[in-house]
Amino acid sequence: MKILSVVGARPNLMKIAPFVHAIEQYNSSNNNLLEHILVHTGQHYDDRMSNSFFERLGIPSADINLGIGSGSHAEQVGKTMIKFEQILIEQKPDWVVVVGDVNATLASSVTAKKLHVKVCHIEAGLRSGDERMPEEINRLVTDRLSDLLLTPDMLSTENLLKEGVSEKKIEFVGNIMIDTLENNKIAAHKLSIEEIVRQNKISSISRDVDSLGKRFAVLTMHRPSNVDEETVLRPVFNLLNDEISEEIPLIWPIHPRAQNKLRQFRLWDIALKNPKLFLLNPIGYQEILKLNMEARIMLTDSGGLQEECCVLGTPCLTLRWNTERPITLRTNGGASVLVGNNVERIRKEFFDTLKLDRLPHRPDLWDGNTAGRCVNAILNYRAK
Ligand code: UD1
Repeated sequence: MKILSVVGARPNLMKIAPFVHAIEQYNSSNNNLLEHILVHTGQHYDDRMSNSFFERLGIPSADINLGIGSGSHAEQVGKTMIKFEQILIEQKPDWVVVVGDVNATLASSVTAKKLHVKVCHIEAGLRSGDERMPEEINRLVTDRLSDLLLTPDMLSTENLLKEGVSEKKIEFVGNIMIDTLENNKIAAHKLSIEEIVRQNKISSISRDVDSLGKRFAVLTMHRPSNVDEETVLRPVFNLLNDEISEEIPLIWPIHPRAQNKLRQFRLWDIALKNPKLFLLNPIGYQEILKLNMEARIMLTDSGGLQEECCVLGTPCLTLRWNTERPITLRTNGGASVLVGNNVERIRKEFFDTLKLDRLPHRPDLWDGNTAGRCVNAILNYRAK
């Protein structure tokens, strides 16, 4: 059987790593029965957003890189489809495996389906209900087309059933991101917070890095809905910069999109001058895991970090009005609360949340063994 998997953007890499390893493990005891081809669309191309993750997560280099790069959604999706179609014609896989909800996920599932190649979606069924979010469109289309839908939790399975997806196509396998967390937590534990900050810091002004070991907060923010409009970003930035970092030192590994926008809105120099705001370049998986393990509080609009906070118990403010991952919310036993991008709400929840203790919670099948179940689901698939 020939399986072709697709990645495009940073969050895909944490999801594909355990899948690739599960295929290798299966092959080692089954005479290399599975042929696997890894395609990178090249949506993310900076070393810190891509290559370094391949190395540190032990993913073999992509067999094929489509070199798509940055652009509008239509450009990224269109260019991927044109190039990916050629790859499928040459490679003739039995399956295309897509993960997550980025533009590569959508583009490759549509292309595969039109060439009658079976599609398996890992992380199927997540729904935010917010169709202004590009990822929601990617999820809806990919799930509508997939032949095998592997869900991370039962809420996602229910979403698919409500949409009329046949039960026979759906399998609840658990959360593959948590495989990566389990595989990396010992290495992450050994890292030093101070070293992570020193090695990745952007600004050269002197900051009291040594005190960070005791108490700090972590921030990540990159969604277009939070960073693209000045009327949204400026007040939130002012709160983070003037009040939150005053209360607790704030470590911010910054996504290129957010950095570009801070520069455009003339907030970048203000951020660089704040001695309590530790701006970092994008950091590696183990580094962010270590920060998450030790943080007093996380503020994030990332889906993956919400899930990792849930398992690690890190009190988390989700900087969004909705989430496709409700299982991570405190109301469902998780560690997060939705605060959107309203300054009053973030401020209030921030001070309330600072009082909370770490409370780990592990939803069903978030056990580190999801990738093996994904491979088995493909092997056991019978046309449904
Ligand atoms: C993409 C995903 C999003 C995911 C995020 C994680 C979609 C629709 N969005 O958003 O779901 O949470 O990745 O990072 O697929 N850039 C660089 N270097 C790079 C890549 C991008 O500097 O290696 C800059 C470019 O200026 C680019 C901008 O970042 O225009 C945004 O990149 P893009 O790939 O369009 O989307 P993300 O915001 O990263």
